[in-house]
Amino acid sequence: MRERILARLHGAAGEYVSGEELAAELGVSRTAVWKRVAELKAAGYPIESCTRLGYRLPPGANALDAALFAGRCIRVEETDSTNRLARELWEAGAIGHGDVVVAARQTRGRGRRGRRWESPPGGLWFSLLLRPSLAPAQVAPFSLVCAVAVAEALQRFVPVPVQVKWPNDVLVGGRKAAGVLLEMQAEFDRIEYVIAGIGINVNLDREVFPAPLRGLVTSLQAEAGTPLPLETVLQEVLGGLQACFGEFVASGWPPFRRRFQRLCAHRGRLIRVCQGESWLEGIDEGVDADGCLRLRLVDGRLVRVAAGDVVFDSGLDAGEDECTSSG
Ligand code: BTN
Repeated sequence: MRERILARLHGAAGEYVSGEELAAELGVSRTAVWKRVAELKAAGYPIESCTRLGYRLPPGANALDAALFAGRCIRVEETDSTNRLARELWEAGAIGHGDVVVAARQTRGRGRRGRRWESPPGGLWFSLLLRPSLAPAQVAPFSLVCAVAVAEALQRFVPVPVQVKWPNDVLVGGRKAAGVLLEMQAEFDRIEYVIAGIGINVNLDREVFPAPLRGLVTSLQAEAGTPLPLETVLQEVLGGLQACFGEFVASGWPPFRRRFQRLCAHRGRLIRVCQGESWLEGIDEGVDADGCLRLRLVDGRLVRVAAGDVVFDSGLDAGEDECTSSG
């Protein structure tokens, strides 16, 4: 319903739409409309309310594509990193909540833990700027939520299983095809912005990856057996992120915990977690109420892991590369 409200307000081009009218169009009560609008406002949408007139998106706030978070989509042929560019555009006052920066290729794409992210033409490399009304500590599981959103969206394009690997890798047919890099600017109790950087190997040949990564990574094209329309994939993923973001702001991590576990490639399995130079080995007992990984060590202790790279199964050997390389 949130998407329909946004689309309707966007379509009204800065004019007010009454709560009564929205309720009638959506077939719900005015209270339900009021609640959804309150959630959208909490999620950062600049909706204005007026008791007599109803709701509106102020003119100019969104002369945009409502499907994209009611945000603008800024496209560039090449940049070093869309995450860096998004930050620069934010600092210049050029983008705001819900805007997306997409590059056809990145020259210095950044992965988690300071790694390089290969970003040749044919993939989707984009960053979404968000301004949730949440405390900084509440945002941590959002990177796992992004992985869920991306995985669920990508499943519509490939016949093989799409899974997540904690904390936020997306595997297609057991190999990594997408990743999430979440960066945040915050004060003690207030988030200034979050940049969700998403990289998806869409129409890439395995040969474009450095040799040590080839056994670990894949692309949607390789798994689907055919090239896919980049724009359609982008729209699907942004639609999923939009829905998940709204739900996360309204209800937090709990509704996503089960979705993450259902998609998780290593739940209940013997895994290793690489944390820089050190390793932890044990059985994955799922993610907890904060999105941390619960690991039952061989000595029986249960530990809570907040950061690291998971390596599992036949990936145990090959995966050691993954702790030092990109992809
Ligand atoms: C990972 O290591 O799994 C995260 C990879 C994130 C890559 C994306 S591509 C778009 C955005 N810009 C960057 O420089 N990185 C992210």
